[in-house]
Amino acid sequence: MNRIEHDGPLIVGGGLAGLSAALEAAPRRTLVVTPAPLLQACSSAWAQGGVAAALSASDAPELHAADTEAAGAGLVEAGATRVLTDDGRATVEWLASLGAPFDRDAAGGFAVSLEAAHSKPRVARVGGDGAGRAILSALVAAARAAPHIEIWEDGRLRGLLQDGAGRVRGAVIERDGRLVEVLAPAVVLATGGAGGLFAQTTTPAALLGEGMALAYRAGAEILDPEFVQFHPTAMDVGLDPMPLATEALRGEGARLVDGEGRFLLGDGADADLQPRDVVARAVHAARAAGRGAYLDARVIGWDFAREFPAVFAACMRAGLDPRETPIPVAAAAHYHMGGIAAGPDGQTTLEGLFAVGECAATGVHGANRLASNSLLEAAAFGRRTGRAAARVRAVPGAVSAPATAPDLAPDELERLRRTMSAEAGVVRDAAGLGRALAVLDELEAAAPGALPLVAARLIVEAALARRESRGGHWRADFPAPAPQARHTRLRARIAAMAE
Ligand code: SIN
Repeated sequence: MNRIEHDGPLIVGGGLAGLSAALEAAPRRTLVVTPAPLLQACSSAWAQGGVAAALSASDAPELHAADTEAAGAGLVEAGATRVLTDDGRATVEWLASLGAPFDRDAAGGFAVSLEAAHSKPRVARVGGDGAGRAILSALVAAARAAPHIEIWEDGRLRGLLQDGAGRVRGAVIERDGRLVEVLAPAVVLATGGAGGLFAQTTTPAALLGEGMALAYRAGAEILDPEFVQFHPTAMDVGLDPMPLATEALRGEGARLVDGEGRFLLGDGADADLQPRDVVARAVHAARAAGRGAYLDARVIGWDFAREFPAVFAACMRAGLDPRETPIPVAAAAHYHMGGIAAGPDGQTTLEGLFAVGECAATGVHGANRLASNSLLEAAAFGRRTGRAAARVRAVPGAVSAPATAPDLAPDELERLRRTMSAEAGVVRDAAGLGRALAVLDELEAAAPGALPLVAARLIVEAALARRESRGGHWRADFPAPAPQARHTRLRARIAAMAE
């Protein structure tokens, strides 16, 4: 196997978190590795909402933090959340300084809109529903122009290099079918979420929780993996992944109805703007009962294409004109709140290993992420992580590479995805989670140690152990929350590190 020594952070992932970290790591030489060309197969490029931050005169970071804590159902870490919301304005200004073309108000300030469970309008958008792609495009241009950054757009993470003390000292990267060991003083995982483990998802299907699985196998702590957020309005138009119909449509008056046109959540004006988990369960229940679920967005009218260009284009591609026809919707895996336990500066429980963005769990999302906090977290904590990783110096000594895990065959991956949506999806119970574990056992016999199976098992076992309902985790057999909110913290036994 080839080995190279890189004297600076190695960042795995080229989404908003990874590129924010890379830019702020200057002047240290920084290597960014992504499995696909930048802007492809990356959730941040698909984000329709925007960046949540206290930007208006009537708002404040404390109010943003209070809303974040209320949404997170008892599991939000207050310290990390204050760091996040305090960084809000500076982060949006930094993104704008790089060229992110945020919508502006008449006075030239940031135009902000209201989203569900925010007490103030605080979501900075770009061109209606195009925030993710526009912001990421600005960062991609900046990263490509930065002399300290080198980018490999054909590199797949296959393993972490560790020394005898467990310190992470680099990563094994597969390029063009060949494995390369990249030694680096700091490895930053910005590998995205795990939505691709589910048959119904709004995220790129390639996101299979592999960064979390590798961190777990290396001995890092995993926090709250059972908490997956399901978005209530994924468009059910025969596409995989499912295009998102942003919740801003409901903010503009679109309504959720069944096949007979009856409101799914009652006829109150704000009924459809309840927390995302509540709305997702209503959509799921209507479909399970055979009533169907539709987003009637005809109220948007003839400005649809201008106000929501991404949603409009996805509908038209599917042969559906949303100005005339309600959009069929389903609840789909959208965001992983759990992941690699990390602080605001990306530090994990393993020396040399950092995690940021959706693969990390910093505690700011608790059991239920507040809308548009994910782009803020990716950029704000990405910047902090880049600065922290750049301060790490190389240490001498021998390292060892783990055996490379096998891939799942396409039919095995499909079986996994169908199982996860059916048994570990919007509504869970002990019987279904037990069936999911039995399928995981069978798949593991065929592909022992496959990373998507490791990630799926973390989610399923933690969901089975959490005998309560809280935030995005709903147990039909334990519908009440436990009196006290507790985190799940998981670490592999040391023996697993040697596998
Ligand atoms: C949406 O626009 O509905 C999604 C935004 C988010 O997930 O934060």
